Amino acid sequence: MSEDTEMGLYEAMSTLRAVRRLRPDPIPDDVLRRVLQAACWAPTGGNQQPWRVIVVRSDERKEALAAIYGPEWARYVQGSQRRLEGLEGDELARRQRIIAAGDHLADHLAEAPVILLFCADFRAMAVTDAKLDRISLVGGGSVYPPVQNAMLACVAEGLGCTLTTLHCFREADVKTALDIPEEWATAAMVPIGYPVLTGHGPISRRGPAELAFDDAFGTPLAI
Ligand SMILES: Cc1cc2nc3c(=O)[nH]c(=O)nc-3n(C[C@H](O)[C@H](O)[C@H](O)COP(=O)(O)O)c2cc1C
Repeated sequence: MSEDTEMGLYEAMSTLRAVRRLRPDPIPDDVLRRVLQAACWAPTGGNQQPWRVIVVRSDERKEALAAIYGPEWARYVQGSQRRLEGLEGDELARRQRIIAAGDHLADHLAEAPVILLFCADFRAMAVTDAKLDRISLVGGGSVYPPVQNAMLACVAEGLGCTLTTLHCFREADVKTALDIPEEWATAAMVPIGYPVLTGHGPISRRGPAELAFDDAFGTPLAI
């Protein structure tokens, strides 16, 4: 991206939304390099960088991923039909738009010029919550910042992208498809490409008034 069109960080953060309709046009190497460099700048526990990203570009490997992702998306949609019942008006239309975009992504995944497959190595992580009697979260903190950095770079570069995780239901198959070693886990699959429509843009998120507290959990923020 040239200096005169450089996008501010806040603009990138506030327009990063799921862009599921991607053009097959190739991504220039220098653009892709900047996206990957952004991922590498992310902090990780102990600066171990216990993650890797596979830049999937061959038709054969992309088709293998699409063959895994497609049925998982279909299963997800089927499961979410019940959540649509009772909805009407704008909210129903919004959910239906998301499903239609997700259908498009699932049907055209192999046509995305690049699919970034982020992997993680738990052996190189200090997972400080591993022994708690709840689902462990901390390890993800050494993988998802790189994913987010790459996605913010995509916004800055005019590339659409979506963080997806449904492939994890069939992680063993994904690992076979991409020659991922036994010890590595998969964290995110991010198809990227130039958008068919407007790409990143307005997002709908709750803000600090609802999500941030003052001093103690539940105390409304006074700023
Ligand atoms: C952890 C995580 C997993 C996600 N997995 C998928 C996925 O498998 N498929 C998909 O189409 N979108 C996936 N998404 C995208 C979200 O559905 C999307 O970000 C959310 O609905 C908000 O939409 P917006 O970003 O367009 O505002 C995922 C997002 C996150 C953060």
